[in-house]
Amino acid sequence: MKIITFSHYKEVTDDVLKDSYAVVIDLLRATSTMIWAISNGAKGIIPVEDISEARLLKRLDESVLLGGERGGLKIEGFDLDNSPLSYKKEAIFGKTVVMTTTNGTRALKKASFAKRIFLGSFINAKKTAEYIMKETLHYNIDTISIVCAGTEEKFTLEDILCAGYFVDLFKKNLPDVFLDDLSLASHVLYKKFENDPHEILKYSYHYNHLKKLGFEADLEFCLRKDFVDCVCEYKNLVVEKV
Ligand code: MLT
Repeated sequence: MKIITFSHYKEVTDDVLKDSYAVVIDLLRATSTMIWAISNGAKGIIPVEDISEARLLKRLDESVLLGGERGGLKIEGFDLDNSPLSYKKEAIFGKTVVMTTTNGTRALKKASFAKRIFLGSFINAKKTAEYIMKETLHYNIDTISIVCAGTEEKFTLEDILCAGYFVDLFKKNLPDVFLDDLSLASHVLYKKFENDPHEILKYSYHYNHLKKLGFEADLEFCLRKDFVDCVCEYKNLVVEKV
């Protein structure tokens, strides 16, 4: 099995993706938020790139909720922001949410060439990795791509740390794993900070940006591991529970 990691979504190459199963990671916060929304009973999430596209979908179907952020904050006229803590059962159960975020929703779209696309986060990494390993072995898939969303089209530390956790799970459980250099680097970094990711992330850009905006609780939430059981897949333009 080959594990190939992309440092941000603009780096993704379709020739690698097309034969692989992909895990898309926007740890802070888009994929963590979507996973939590689905685990709290949202029917589905439709990721879109633009605010105007989201508003158009709402005009076509009044029952959808609009969620997402620009600059980390709720978009004017939207129902929900991009904080996982806003996606409580009572707010989203049975609903379809149209979401647009700066990097995460774009990364999902960019991964479209992959054979299957899963959402990754610390909050459900173990279940997601287990599911991917089972399916890749069953269907003889020999590449897993880890697509880090990045921040503002650049490498971002939190996504790489989470990528390293996925690499750790794959390495422990799959025979003959080949890691490209970024997968290897993410694993080394993850192992160093696996017991307290805050220790390194407190020096990083997006973590501090969210902290300044008052989203400390989101940071705690998104850095907790494996308390969510559901595996989420992006398929036919919608994120749903597998
Ligand atoms: C994004 O998609 O860029 C992020 O999820 C931004 C955020 O933390 O709200």
